[in-house]
Amino acid sequence: MTISYTIKHYDSIDSTNLEARRLIGQNCGHGTVVTAESQTDGKGRLGRAWNSARGAGLWFSVVLEPRIPVHQVSLYSFAAAVSVAEGIQLSTGLSSQVKWPNDVLLKGRKVCGILLELVAERNQPVRVIIGIGINANQQMEDFPEDVQHKAVSLAMETGKSIDRKQVLDAVLDRLAFYSAELEQNGFAAIRETWTALSCVSGKAVQIVQQGKPVLYGTALGLDDDGALLVQSEHGTERITAGDVSLRAADGGYAV
Ligand code: BTN
Repeated sequence: MTISYTIKHYDSIDSTNLEARRLIGQNCGHGTVVTAESQTDGKGRLGRAWNSARGAGLWFSVVLEPRIPVHQVSLYSFAAAVSVAEGIQLSTGLSSQVKWPNDVLLKGRKVCGILLELVAERNQPVRVIIGIGINANQQMEDFPEDVQHKAVSLAMETGKSIDRKQVLDAVLDRLAFYSAELEQNGFAAIRETWTALSCVSGKAVQIVQQGKPVLYGTALGLDDDGALLVQSEHGTERITAGDVSLRAADGGYAV
């Protein structure tokens, strides 16, 4: 099923997610996409800032009217993560992996982050905003020093300048496919694709919540609601919040 996308492009905006929320206030339609050359207040997960250097990245937010029960809308973030991984593959040839909950990595470094928000306004259908930030043309020195060891861009991996429009089109195309898949066939098929692309399944992981490690174990996979199942010494735990770090060869935890 296709989505008829309407793209609204801005030179500079506070955050494409915030602009999407304002457009929802004006009753914008299913498939509205906000893109920006730069964001002055880019938002990351868990209240973090998202560094959004001018022209270097692909910063965009997609507004959808969920066609699944409201309590399941977080599953769109898995549809988005696999759409980004496949869109990157189709537009650049690079193979990426996904990491719970919805990061996309290239050789263990983060190339994309996804921020999903639910908007329920009075007298309007519920909307979901899927905010996607893809590092496209940055070089290492363009990233803040504290993330340089864990971030990467498509240009750094290909050694070529990236046509951001091509990447955007490929991701939006896959997102139309995977959101229809979720709506028509449920989470099972996306979970299978996500698991095949996952860098955490079967691996030793650390779960970090509010900056503190709270659990060590082996990641088993996703349950029906997208929670990460982790086998710890206390049994199988269901993780619904926080970040996952993978155990590195030196016994420490990376990314
Ligand atoms: C994360 O913390 O990994 C999520 C980052 C999401 C960043 C994107 S960039 C486009 C959209 N607008 C925002 O303000 N955030 C998301």
